[in-house]
Amino acid sequence: MTREEAVAFVRQMTLEEKAGLCSGKDFWRLKSVERLGIPEVMVCDGPNGLRKQAEREGAGINDSIRAVCFPGSCAEAASFDRDAMYRAGKAMGHACQAENISILLGPGANIKRSPICGRNFEYYSEDPYLSGQIAAAHIKGVQSQNVGACIKHFAANNQETRRMAISSEVDERTLREIYLAAFEMAIKEAKPWAVMCSYNQINGTFASENHWLLHDVLKEEWGYDGLVVTDWGAVNDRVQGLMAGLDLEMPGSGGYNDAKIVEAVKRGETPESVLDEACVRIVSRIMTYVENREENAVWDKDADHLLAIDIAKECMVLLKNEDAVLPLSDDEPVVFIGKFAEKPRIQGGGSSHVNVWNPSSALDEVKTMERVTYVSGFDIGDAEGEEALRLEQQRFHDAVAAAKNAKAAVIFAGLPDSYESEGFDRKHMRLPDIQNRLIQAVAEIQPNTVVVLHNGSPVEMPWVDDVKGILEAYLGGEGVGAATVDILFGRANPSGKLPETFPLKLSDNPSYLNFPGEADKVEYKEGIFVGYRYYDKKQMKVLFPFGHGLSYTSFSYSDMQVSKKKLTDEEVCKVAVTITNTGDRFGKEAVQLYVQDVTSRVIRPVKELKGFEKVALEPGESRTVTFELSKRAWAYYDVESRGWYTEEGEFRILAGASSQDIRLEETVYVTPVAKAKHTYTMNSVLGDFMNCPEVKEEITELKRICDSMFHTETGDDAQLGEGTADMMEAQSREMPLKSLPSFSDGKITREYLEGILKKVNH
Ligand code: BGC
Repeated sequence: MTREEAVAFVRQMTLEEKAGLCSGKDFWRLKSVERLGIPEVMVCDGPNGLRKQAEREGAGINDSIRAVCFPGSCAEAASFDRDAMYRAGKAMGHACQAENISILLGPGANIKRSPICGRNFEYYSEDPYLSGQIAAAHIKGVQSQNVGACIKHFAANNQETRRMAISSEVDERTLREIYLAAFEMAIKEAKPWAVMCSYNQINGTFASENHWLLHDVLKEEWGYDGLVVTDWGAVNDRVQGLMAGLDLEMPGSGGYNDAKIVEAVKRGETPESVLDEACVRIVSRIMTYVENREENAVWDKDADHLLAIDIAKECMVLLKNEDAVLPLSDDEPVVFIGKFAEKPRIQGGGSSHVNVWNPSSALDEVKTMERVTYVSGFDIGDAEGEEALRLEQQRFHDAVAAAKNAKAAVIFAGLPDSYESEGFDRKHMRLPDIQNRLIQAVAEIQPNTVVVLHNGSPVEMPWVDDVKGILEAYLGGEGVGAATVDILFGRANPSGKLPETFPLKLSDNPSYLNFPGEADKVEYKEGIFVGYRYYDKKQMKVLFPFGHGLSYTSFSYSDMQVSKKKLTDEEVCKVAVTITNTGDRFGKEAVQLYVQDVTSRVIRPVKELKGFEKVALEPGESRTVTFELSKRAWAYYDVESRGWYTEEGEFRILAGASSQDIRLEETVYVTPVAKAKHTYTMNSVLGDFMNCPEVKEEITELKRICDSMFHTETGDDAQLGEGTADMMEAQSREMPLKSLPSFSDGKITREYLEGILKKVNH
């Protein structure tokens, strides 16, 4: 439906109808306006499957229709594969058509600030570029089926503790470069039908009524013309929200807030045009869905199940593979240990929880392989009571004994639901003690020990040096069992890469001192130094770096080419890298491109991800992978000038297999077309003016006078020690304008300095 058509609908609506349309009919449905032929439509939770509930009343959070469960977002990001994400999104979009769902609530594009945010499994990455790209692919896939996606939770919702009340205190540059950037990219590139604002406050104002966020940034600056909906129950002041750019309240307030809107319009406090605009956005989405409805769509869940397996394979990350312990050999006895082999943790708890269509476990998949045996080793959850503890000991003992008699042991470990979920944050970064102890005990007697992990976010690995293999399965959806077995036995080759750093311990994480904040405030004091941006800058050791992931084959990187060595920031720099499969089996490599600002006045990370491509190669095959770098690849957000600016100078372009495994590099020189504007004052120091062409002459003269003030009377600096000369040079460079008259014996007047300021500030 065009905007004009939606406007025509809204013109025919009464004030009460319009206010009513701006809130839900119930938990999952938007209201109809029957006399105008606007029907009620339904939405449901994603992002990794449909959680379609018939009615709110009587339906528990886990009671929904059975649906195919795709890998969680934590796993999807590890695929570094836009195409796979598009296919998953498309399948879910088609399921929405079959189930008459107009908008699928997801994906979540919040940044993983701390490894212990309880909802990290529903988010993509610590890096905004990766999050933005994967989110965009998901949204395009869903929306290819003429249903909407709803990117969430906008914005700076990076913890569960007090999530409905907390104020995320974040400086603007950090917001722009880290926390808003993934949203900006996905919104501009994929145009989701809806944006869900978060529960929290941002710098003291609730997201649901944050004019700067919803109006100035989202709608004005980014040109977003879709629908802004609250997170469920996130309204604080409905009228203020409407004025700020909030269109739809969900699930609704039983008419209370609708009446407030009517009153505000009648009293003239809210222009009716603001309400009309919200309605136009709502109507246009409802009717676009209705016009493109596929009544006869059929949801082939078995086909989607196979797709879920394929996608799970793309997402798994081989973290360690000493002595090529994996893939397991074809004929030797192997023991599977751990309850997750039988009952894998495939998804997170909370609103994204799908009533799974066809869960597959690793154990199901090896039923016909006689040489694979199983012992549970531990139960999921902590044992309590005497009998439970006795059983725990027995299981432990059996597992160690079984491991001794096999040629290899695979331990299926991970976080139980009670450790990680929507609604609360993790208390620490450890696996349950029993699992750590069991892994250690098995590794002591079985040299070929492999650990498969099921978790939504990093865990500490005290046994990392004692096991030979580690496969990160994340929360891999209903295909995880089949995908894991295919990878363990070499029928598939792992190709995932970590979308986040695994620190050695929680206290290494940059948010550690300020997570989850105190009272109703959490201060993002680490600023832009989130994830690898911090560990890199601090040159810290980590357990596994961002972007890391092994393969059963090997790849070489060669022949890096850049289209231009000197360019302006308005031009595109094309980069090409040749990747060759140098091993003996088919495999895929996610090639990563980072950019480093070599000399910078502004504080910047060592490098930032600005491109990635996944390439599939037969043994011996080579392919050239290409990337395009444009302005954002070089720019930082300049708060004073309110925009993205590049500093003139050299930039290194780094191509690598991980953030710590850079294979090739090239240097280019970038000149900005527009420079950031700064206001100079009497407190600006002489050094600040050195690069201002407008006043170069005057400043050189001032500097000369200033230098002479600090020099010896004879002017013979050679008598001074080297340090003293440096000190004098620094003194004049650091001298603020305001102090020059007092030091210059009347040679420099305040009026003269004001003239200089006038020149540079214009
Ligand atoms: C969650 C959203 C979800 C909504 C509806 C909220 O509590 O934060 O992500 O879409 O509930 O279930």
